[in-house]
Amino acid sequence: KRKVIIDCDPGIDDMFALILCIRHLDVRGIVAVGGNTGLEYTQRNARFATELTGRPDIPVYAGYDMPMLNQLVRATEVHGSGGIGDIEIREPEKKLEKEHGADFLIRTFMENDDISLITLGPLTNVAQAILKEPELKKRIPEILCMGGSATSGNATPAAEFNILVDPEAAKIVFESGIPIKMAGLNLTRQNHMDMADVEQLRAIGGTVGDFAADILEFSVKNSDFTSICDACAVAWWVDDQVITKSIRTQVDVETKGEFTRGMTVCDWRDFMGTDPEQEISREKCWNKYKTSGNVEVAMEFDQ
Ligand code: BDR
Ligand code: CA
Repeated sequence: KRKVIIDCDPGIDDMFALILCIRHLDVRGIVAVGGNTGLEYTQRNARFATELTGRPDIPVYAGYDMPMLNQLVRATEVHGSGGIGDIEIREPEKKLEKEHGADFLIRTFMENDDISLITLGPLTNVAQAILKEPELKKRIPEILCMGGSATSGNATPAAEFNILVDPEAAKIVFESGIPIKMAGLNLTRQNHMDMADVEQLRAIGGTVGDFAADILEFSVKNSDFTSICDACAVAWWVDDQVITKSIRTQVDVETKGEFTRGMTVCDWRDFMGTDPEQEISREKCWNKYKTSGNVEVAMEFDQ
């Protein structure tokens, strides 16, 4: 099983992703960040996920509650104020680790070569860890990031939520040189969940099935289009056949634009000249994609 650390802001779709990862991957730790809702809930929900799946041995850490520069803009209309719809849960017995989430990231990646990082929320913890320990840029083997979009956004016309919450952090991570696989909205919105999926989960039943059905039902009833983005993203590492097309390109994070702050700008036609082969220049091959850049962008999902 692939060894991973998950940085997340649960969040309904984060909970689906955590359930999937805990079942199919070797999860070495979960770090919570403020995003969909505040850290007081995201870290609690992460701890709850470990109990729900019978894996309270997985350590859970709290990272940053606030983006590097902005105030936190939450998505509580999508996820509910506690992050898991309108479900009230008890305080988990599982305790939060004392170490700060960013320090856990630093310690883990400085000491290990074979663990990769999954990010399902704003990139604040990862960026802060890189600023504190710049060697991390060479130590993190790969990041699978649910964030950004190769098409349009969901938080603004241009920006996807996780990137818009903390564009400065995203810029640090995308410019770090760490290999990134991006499962952005252009991919995850190819997945659509509705009441039939809720019923299917109810039919499976059990503690996990019932919980999943409850939170998905909240999503379906409170949104005109529900996709469990974070679960789609991690599916890439559970079974890489799930992604049927991906393209490597240069992706830069816009931090200044009046309309485009938080946008992930994909350089499909090599305007930035980052393709060393220079085989596919924009003059020559309008319809061909270049083959280099900092990010492998997932394009198509096997539904
Ligand atoms: C992303 O934003 C959050 O609301 C979800 O949890 C997901 O990580 C989708 O834009
Ligand atoms: Ca998330």
